[in-house]
Amino acid sequence: MAHPQVFLFACAIALLASSSMFSAEVIEHSFHVQNHTISRLCGRQVISAVNGSLPGPTLHVREGDTLVVHVFNKLPYDLSIHWHGVFQLLSGWADGPEFATQCAIRPGNSYTYRFNLTGQEGTLWWHAHVSWLRATVHGALIIRPKRGRTYPFPKPYREVPILLGEWWNANVVDVENEGLTSGAAPNNSNAYTINGQPGDLYPCSSNKIYKLIVKQGKTYLLRIINAALNNQLFFKIANHNMKVVAVDAAYTNPYITDVVVVAPGQTTDVLLTANQVPASYYMAANPYVSVAGVPFDNTTTTGIIVYEGAKLSSPKMPILQAFNDTPTTHKFFTNLTGLVTGPFWVPPPRQVDEHMFITIGLGLIACGKTGNNATCGGPNG
Ligand SMILES: *[C@@H]1O[C@H](CO)[C@@H](O)[C@H](O)[C@H]1NC(C)=O
Ligand SMILES: *[C@@H]1O[C@H](CO)[C@@H](O)[C@H](O)[C@H]1NC(C)=O
Ligand SMILES: *[C@@H]1O[C@H](CO)[C@@H](O)[C@H](O)[C@H]1NC(C)=O
Ligand SMILES: *[C@@H]1O[C@H](CO)[C@@H](O)[C@H](O)[C@H]1NC(C)=O
Ligand SMILES: *[C@@H]1O[C@H](CO)[C@@H](O)[C@H](O)[C@H]1NC(C)=O
Ligand SMILES: *[C@@H]1O[C@H](CO)[C@@H](O)[C@H](O)[C@H]1NC(C)=O
Ligand SMILES: *[C@@H]1O[C@H](CO)[C@@H](O)[C@H](O)[C@H]1NC(C)=O
Repeated sequence: MAHPQVFLFACAIALLASSSMFSAEVIEHSFHVQNHTISRLCGRQVISAVNGSLPGPTLHVREGDTLVVHVFNKLPYDLSIHWHGVFQLLSGWADGPEFATQCAIRPGNSYTYRFNLTGQEGTLWWHAHVSWLRATVHGALIIRPKRGRTYPFPKPYREVPILLGEWWNANVVDVENEGLTSGAAPNNSNAYTINGQPGDLYPCSSNKIYKLIVKQGKTYLLRIINAALNNQLFFKIANHNMKVVAVDAAYTNPYITDVVVVAPGQTTDVLLTANQVPASYYMAANPYVSVAGVPFDNTTTTGIIVYEGAKLSSPKMPILQAFNDTPTTHKFFTNLTGLVTGPFWVPPPRQVDEHMFITIGLGLIACGKTGNNATCGGPNG
């Protein structure tokens, strides 16, 4: 007969194992948000950054976990952090938009965000929600399935966040204030970025490029986040298709495409299989802008995918979409459909009580300002 103490001990071990294997965890982090000087595009620039990194730290949680983040504001500006896309069930006060769900965190002060990640899996992100600080104060928030549960697609070999951003050779707060004061559109960005790097199509940037090394035959989950302020972006990889499996932390029917379109704030998870001749291939992002006559940053950011063991060669470049390629954008967005067999899928209501026709004006087209014409108050007159 087993000794009772040994038996109790074994039970305790089993309990411990099962609770750590299947129950939710509390994940706790600290963000120190402060000035950070980096060099980009031939100059040095003071930016606001979390823990001195651009993009900021990637946060990893599992569905059902509780996330606790202590934010220390060491900037000369007010600050708040928004957890973009998080449902915030019974925790609306932790959502972050300044003057909507909280007062700003004043310089020199701190604030603790605490909320649960429930009913969502995939890629979201966090960003400053005061002024234009989100240009550099942002990072990925990755929600994996609970322990013991799997993705509704084959497990990828590696997972890689791809943060698309927008860079100014200026203090973004000054750029915004200049626009607000003059009434003109604020300056366009000087570059787009992939994981904080502009890539080699910009001046002084031949070594400021994000590189991803891949193994032939392996499948990678790219978690693409559009952290740019103003522009939708096309994202392509030379010679490779991508399989979209989720957007905004909701699973989609697998959709194979050679181009991803992603709006600011949105995320797109794709499976990339390294199934081409071992070599180097560019990934590239350029803007989608459908309004004619409005100035925008029309540059292209690049990164490089290098196959392990490939001979050094100049990378192949994908054929870029035209800036106004609305048919491609329409096709991409209308082809994405929810994975009804996946976890957390909720059927949309089928009965419509009220039909509404809604138009939205951006006031981007000059309307012939004469004298003190109050109806012509938008940017660009
Ligand atoms: C940020 O930096 C602080 C201070 O070095 C450190 O304690 C903390 O763990 C870092 N946070 C993250 C999310 O890396
Ligand atoms: C941080 O940067 C801002 C903008 O460049 C500047 O006004 C401020 O003095 C800097 N603060 C510190 C502590 O360096
Ligand atoms: C968050 O999760 C914890 C642990 O499961 C639970 O105790 C708490 O009630 C949850 N909070 C909310 C607001 O749902
Ligand atoms: C905006 O662009 C103009 C023209 O290049 C430049 O003179 C000005 O300094 C820029 N503003 C800021 C805030 O960088
Ligand atoms: C980008 O815009 C500038 C200024 O309008 C123009 O000179 C240039 O040809 C454009 N570049 C591309 C790739 O369209
Ligand atoms: C994708 O979109 C195109 C154009 O909108 C349509 O013809 C095609 O049937 C769609 N494909 C799928 C798989 O939904
Ligand atoms: C003011 O602008 C509107 C819109 O363009 C135009 O219809 C109207 O005639 C303008 N009024 C004057 C006094 O110029």
